Parts: sequence; C-alpha cells; structure tokens
Amino acid sequence: MAPNLSHHIISQALLLLIIQSLFVNSESHSRSLQLFEGAQKGYTFKGLNHVKQYLKAFGYYYSINDVNFTDHFDSLLESALKAYQQYYRLEVTGKINSDTMKKMSTPRCGVRDVFNDSNDGFKFRMVANYTFFNGMPRWNKRQLTYKLRSSAYVISDRQLRPIIARAFGKWADVSNFTFREAWVFNPSDIVVGFHRRFHWDNYPFDGPGNILAHAFAPEDGRLHYDADENWSTNNLTRLDQIDVESVSIHEIGHILGLGHSRDPNAIMYPYYRLKRNLGQDDIDGIRALYFGR
Ligand SMILES: *[C@@H]1O[C@H](CO)[C@@H](O)[C@H](O)[C@H]1NC(C)=O
Ligand SMILES: *[C@@H]1O[C@H](CO)[C@@H](O)[C@H](O)[C@H]1NC(C)=O
Ligand SMILES: *[C@@H]1O[C@H](CO)[C@@H](O)[C@H](O)[C@H]1NC(C)=O
Ligand SMILES: *[C@@H]1O[C@H](CO)[C@@H](O)[C@H](O)[C@H]1NC(C)=O
Ligand SMILES: *[C@@H]1O[C@H](CO)[C@@H](O)[C@H](O)[C@H]1NC(C)=O
Ligand SMILES: *[C@@H]1O[C@H](CO)[C@@H](O)[C@H](O)[C@H]1NC(C)=O
Ligand SMILES: [Zn+2]
Ligand SMILES: [Zn+2]
Repeated sequence: MAPNLSHHIISQALLLLIIQSLFVNSESHSRSLQLFEGAQKGYTFKGLNHVKQYLKAFGYYYSINDVNFTDHFDSLLESALKAYQQYYRLEVTGKINSDTMKKMSTPRCGVRDVFNDSNDGFKFRMVANYTFFNGMPRWNKRQLTYKLRSSAYVISDRQLRPIIARAFGKWADVSNFTFREAWVFNPSDIVVGFHRRFHWDNYPFDGPGNILAHAFAPEDGRLHYDADENWSTNNLTRLDQIDVESVSIHEIGHILGLGHSRDPNAIMYPYYRLKRNLGQDDIDGIRALYFGR
C-alpha cells in the first residue's frame, strides 16, 4: 500500500516530460534525454540515472566516486545540477526545471565543460569566459598540417575541403597559426573526419542527436564529427540540420587548446548554433593562451 501511495503522489506532483529536442521533425531522436520537470532531492525516478550520466560526462561531478548511478535523486546530484545551472547562468535551484531540461536536450559538443583541474578545483574561472584544458596544453609550432580521414561516409572530401579550409582560416586570421592540407602519404598534425558510434577512441558517439562532435587538446590533433547527425554544407541549413562549418570552427578551437566558454556569443559555447564567426571572447582566449603570459 505505502509504496503505491507514494508513487501515486509523486506521479501527480511531478510532470513527466520526454524531451525530444528543440528541433522540429525530431520524433525519431533515439537519444532523447528523459527528464522530469520538478524532480528534486529525495525522489526516485526511472531513468534519472541518464541525467547523472549527462552531468558526469560534462564534468559536473567533482569526483567519479560522487556518482551513484541509481535512479535516486541524491544530494550529490543536487550539487551537480547546481553547478550545471551556475555554469549556464540558469536559476540555481538544484532541481530539474524546464530551463534546465531545455538546455540539456539541445545538441552540443562532446567535450566536457569543466575539467578536474587540481589547481582550480571545481571553481569556474570568473575573470574570463574562455577556458583552457587542464595544464594549458599548447602547440609548440605555428605551422600545422591537416588531413581528412573518415570511417563513415557523410559528405565527400571534395565538399568538406573548402569548409574546413574556411574554418581554419577563421583562427588563422586572429593568431599566428597557419594551416595547410598534408600530402596524402605524409603524417599530419591534425586529422579530421566523420565517425559513427565506437570509433577507436574512448568516446563513442551516441547516434542521432545530443553529441555532435568532439576534438582533443594539443598536441593530439584528432577532430571527429558524429556521422549520425544530419549534416549540412550550405548556409541555408534547416532547423533540423547541423552546419558543418559552425561545428568545425568550434572543434578547431579545442584542437588549438581552448576549452568551453560560458559566453553565448563565443564560438566555444558548448551548445550548437548556426554561427560562422569567432566572438571577441574566442579571440581573447586564443591570444591569452599563446601570447598572454
Ligand atoms: C579529481 O581530482 C581529484 C584530486 O586530484 C581526484 O581524487 C579525483 O578522483 C578526480 N576526479 C575525477 C572525476 O577525475
Ligand atoms: C547508492 O544508492 C543506493 C540507493 O539509494 C544506496 O543503497 C547505496 O548505498 C548508494 N551507494 C553509494 C556508494 O553511495
Ligand atoms: C605573432 O605575429 C605577430 C604579428 O602578427 C608578431 O608580432 C609576433 O611576434 C608573433 N608571435 C609569435 C610568437 O610568433
Ligand atoms: C534527420 O532528418 C530526417 C529527415 O528530415 C529526420 O527524420 C531525422 O529525425 C533527422 N535526424 C536528426 C538527428 O535530426
Ligand atoms: C549565405 O550565402 C549567401 C550567398 O552566398 C550570402 O549572401 C549570405 O550572406 C550567406 N549567409 C550567411 C549566414 O552566411
Ligand atoms: C562573459 O559573458 C557574459 C555573457 O555574454 C558577458 O556579459 C560578460 O561580460 C563576459 N565576461 C567577460 C569577463 O568577458
Ligand atoms: Zn566543444
Ligand atoms: Zn572520437
């Protein structure tokens, strides 16, 4: 009796919402997060562990030991949610409200927002919006080469080539970096390509929706797009398509050593928008990283 009763009360008190995504025609998104409006500490909800996994993946738990992957809303989830809400300048409630849900269901970059920097702890850098990876890894040279190499076919190299060149150009314009495509049989500093699901790094893609791409810190050079998205190469991108150029400029920022920015006008903002130019924050970031200190 008691379990049924409490279950009944919780069902009435909380509105269960399955967020597909902000995009139209997204009925078939397979990775839609199941989120629960009004969910707060003390409740147990089937699927709540997905929210924990999401927050852990993007760096909102201080330590791996802090995550208990049950469907129970514990105080550690509350802290992680508060950190997430603080990062995105949402109302800091520690509860799952509609603004938080809306944010989490927007497609984004797979690189984490917060790094477990032992110097920095869990404090966000408040002086600037741009960030760097732990330990500020940087390239020791300025003339970098790149190569296109995909394990999944999405668009031809012929189509991708000018887009990538323009994306590199955006960063070259504001830094001392130059980028050129390497000869086929030569090694290159950067390797760019489309991949699906598991693709031989420790970060398998998640199929359609949610994570769109990721890239590694210097001097790794790997830049991967999730082949399961609806990629678009023209500038008339529909709302349910993802612009390759916008995502490329963002990921190249990571390749050069920038982390995510909390400034919505920055290209390094983690959530996707059609945006093909750098923000002032990005320019300040790359200059601080390479000429700053
Ligand atoms: C974060 O760093 C601390 C101290 O270096 C370590 O104990 C902890 O396991 C780290 N957490 C993660 C998630 O890597
Ligand atoms: C994880 O949560 C379950 C259920 O609330 C609890 O029994 C268990 O002790 C927790 N484990 C840790 C390591 O906190
Ligand atoms: C970067 O380029 C500027 C001119 O645009 C030059 O003054 C500066 O010395 C260069 N810095 C490095 C580290 O190459
Ligand atoms: C891709 O486009 C198709 C057809 O418009 C649509 O059904 C599907 O949901 C889209 N996928 C994503 C991940 O947006
Ligand atoms: C899209 O392309 C057209 C024609 O080349 C151009 O006039 C327009 O400014 C472009 N729009 C964006 C957002 O880049
Ligand atoms: C960070 O971004 C916010 C939002 O765009 C802006 O209001 C603020 O001035 C930025 N802070 C710095 C230090 O640039
Ligand atoms: Zn990113
Ligand atoms: Zn990858």
